[in-house]
Amino acid sequence: MSEQPSITRLDLFIDRMVSQRACLDDAIARTKGRTEPVFELGLGNGRTFHHMRERIRDRDIYVFERAVASHPDSTPAEELTVLGDVRETLPAALDRFPTGASLIHADLGGHSREKNDAFARMVSPLIEPLLAPGGLMVSSDRMYFTNLVEQPLPEGAVEGRCFTYLRIE
Ligand SMILES: C[S@@+](CC[C@H](N)C(=O)[O-])C[C@H]1O[C@@H](n2cnc3c(N)ncnc32)[C@H](O)[C@@H]1O
Repeated sequence: MSEQPSITRLDLFIDRMVSQRACLDDAIARTKGRTEPVFELGLGNGRTFHHMRERIRDRDIYVFERAVASHPDSTPAEELTVLGDVRETLPAALDRFPTGASLIHADLGGHSREKNDAFARMVSPLIEPLLAPGGLMVSSDRMYFTNLVEQPLPEGAVEGRCFTYLRIE
């Protein structure tokens, strides 16, 4: 019997990117036609923001980021940027966005799995009340929500590399 090759960091990275795109495309399609805004939590280089901006034409995309350092083609307009630490800007967004968001994408993690998991536990209760009924939340990390329901992954996404949650109406 031949030995299975080990999973490399490159494999994991590719799986994460492919899954991110599959989950985002699925969530964009499932929330099409809704009027509430979209939130991008963590701009980074701006790749996922660019993808969302190209695919979402019917809603504003607000970007939550502590320090903008994105590619010039992938930098949100100032009025759509919510600058600061999400631990402060998410609770403040409750007043600013009373309808909530139709779609929230979070990619706030770094290289440490343990730290990402601890951060996901802390930030989940701050994200949960911002999702509108019927809205979807897509995350690179497993989240810890009380009332949101984890969704089956769309075709092309790899188990454990991306997560989608629904707020039941
Ligand atoms: C992995 S990058 C996002 C990559 C992005 N999805 C892309 O496709 O280019 C994570 C981003 O989250 C931001 N971030 C992490 N923790 C944050 C916090 N507590 N408040 C605000 N932004 C944070 C970092 O500054 C970083 O830009």
